[in-house]
Amino acid sequence: MPARVLVAYASKKGSTAGIAKAIAKELQAMGHVAIVAEMKDVSSLEGYDALILGAPVYTGSVMGDLSGFVSRHRDALARLPVAAFTAGIAPVYPKTGEVKTFTDQLVAALHPISPVAVTMFSGTLDPKLLSFFERGLTSLLQVPTGDFRNWDAIAAWTRELTQKMGLAASPKN
Ligand SMILES: Cc1cc2nc3c(=O)[nH]c(=O)nc-3n(C[C@H](O)[C@H](O)[C@H](O)COP(=O)(O)O)c2cc1C
Repeated sequence: MPARVLVAYASKKGSTAGIAKAIAKELQAMGHVAIVAEMKDVSSLEGYDALILGAPVYTGSVMGDLSGFVSRHRDALARLPVAAFTAGIAPVYPKTGEVKTFTDQLVAALHPISPVAVTMFSGTLDPKLLSFFERGLTSLLQVPTGDFRNWDAIAAWTRELTQKMGLAASPKN
C-alpha cells in the first residue's frame, strides 16, 4: 500500500523548499504519494500516514514556528510518525554553529512528539539572494557561498526514513 506523506517546510530563500521537493521526489520514486507544502499553509493532517518537517537555520536558530505547528496539530501528530530536518551552512562551515545544537533545537521544538529521525543538511548561500545586511554579516564571518545541498545524502536519508516509519516500498514500474 503506498503511503501518503506530507513534507511541510519553512524557507526564506528557497533552498529548504528545494530539499523538501527532493524528499518528495524520492518518496514518489518509491511508490508513495508525497505532498509538499509550506508549513504555514497546512490546515489539517487528515489523510496523511506520515509527516516530514523541514526548516533552515538563521543566526543560530531553526527558523519557522515548529512548536506552533506541533501544538496546532497535536491530536493528529499523536498517531503519525514524524521526522524533521534542518538546513544550513554549519555542516560545511562549523563556525556558523554545531550541527548537534540545531538537531537538538528540532527535537525540543517537536516536544512532546518524539521524531523517528532528525538531521541537518547542508544548504545554500547565494550572494545574489542576500540583503545588504545579510551580505555584510556573512562576509564578516567569511561564510562560504554556493549550493552545498547533497542530493544523494537527501535521497539516502529519505529511504532510511521510510523504513523507520514502517512505510512499505511499492516501486512504480
Ligand atoms: C543572515 C543569515 C544567517 C545565517 N545563519 C546561519 C547559522 O547561524 N547557522 C547555519 O548553519 N546557517 C546559517 N545560515 C545559512 C542558511 O541556513 C542557509 O542559507 C539555508 O540554506 C537557507 O535556507 P532557505 O534558502 O530555505 O531560506 C544563515 C544565512 C543567512 C543569510
